[in-house]
Amino acid sequence: MKGIILAGGSGTRLAPSTNGVNKHLLNVYDKPMIYYPLSVLMLGGIKDIMIITTPEDLPRFREMLGDGSAFGINLHFKEQSEPNGIPDAFILAEDFIGYDDVTLILGDNIFYGQGFTTLFREALQNHKNATIFGIRVKDPRRFGVVGFDENQKVTSLEEKPEDPKSDFAAAGLYIYDYRAVQIAKRLPISKRGETEITDLNKEYLKGDQLDVQLLGRGFAWMDAGTHEALFDAAEFVKITEQRQGFKIACLEEIAYYLGYLSKQSLHQKGERMKKTDYGQYLMEIADRKHTEQYWEKIDKNPVLEMVQNE
Ligand code: G1P
Repeated sequence: MKGIILAGGSGTRLAPSTNGVNKHLLNVYDKPMIYYPLSVLMLGGIKDIMIITTPEDLPRFREMLGDGSAFGINLHFKEQSEPNGIPDAFILAEDFIGYDDVTLILGDNIFYGQGFTTLFREALQNHKNATIFGIRVKDPRRFGVVGFDENQKVTSLEEKPEDPKSDFAAAGLYIYDYRAVQIAKRLPISKRGETEITDLNKEYLKGDQLDVQLLGRGFAWMDAGTHEALFDAAEFVKITEQRQGFKIACLEEIAYYLGYLSKQSLHQKGERMKKTDYGQYLMEIADRKHTEQYWEKIDKNPVLEMVQNE
């Protein structure tokens, strides 16, 4: 399974903050936005990940994240010179995907909730052709909307419909087989001048090859594409982290629990950032005595619920 994070675009809805900085490098409370989608792919066990962004921003992502070895993963970078739509990611990543399955996550999407890691890992395991994730929203007209019957079989898909057939948005997380690349090449250009992920999904739907995985009311799904949404997301992360004492999307922590990073290396990384709560947190985890229990559990059960729930 390959992973892709789409982190391009001009971020016009976040101006002036994005006049000199890519949206996905902006902070969501205590870490950059890109950490959140990256954490999702890592929790799914995906190690080969391509970040797609603009030619101007690519060096900054590389500087921030390196080759991924700091988090025990392999990062690849690819330029997208024009924002041609979400499906363009598959065309740009054609060689990277090869004949593998691929999971795409949008760079400004944040997923959080008890059981998410299990649900996502199961979706990856059971995935056949194409799998999307549906979640109830108050205003479905802002999103791709999934209609489905009582057996959770997808019956319709619409991009930002005036009159939505359901209250379920298609979240910015998608799993496909390698055929997504060729399908992406044949898609029409929509009214907003791009190809649409909803059209790609419709191709799978036509062949009865689209599954939807619903996320229940206990899940938080946020995008951080406007000032208000970014502020709300930061507030959510701040409150949740401060109340529980756990960090959301702490890549080093996830890497440690997945067995990619040693205790020593986690501690060193914390040391380097010790003036921040983030750095202190890493050192605290590295110093925990009962961590061995996690290693045992990880061996027996690769589903890392404890990363989110302990
Ligand atoms: C895109 C997709 C839409 C999806 C949404 C999720 O919308 O086109 O189907 O529901 O992401 O964040 P956009 O953010 O490009 O308006």
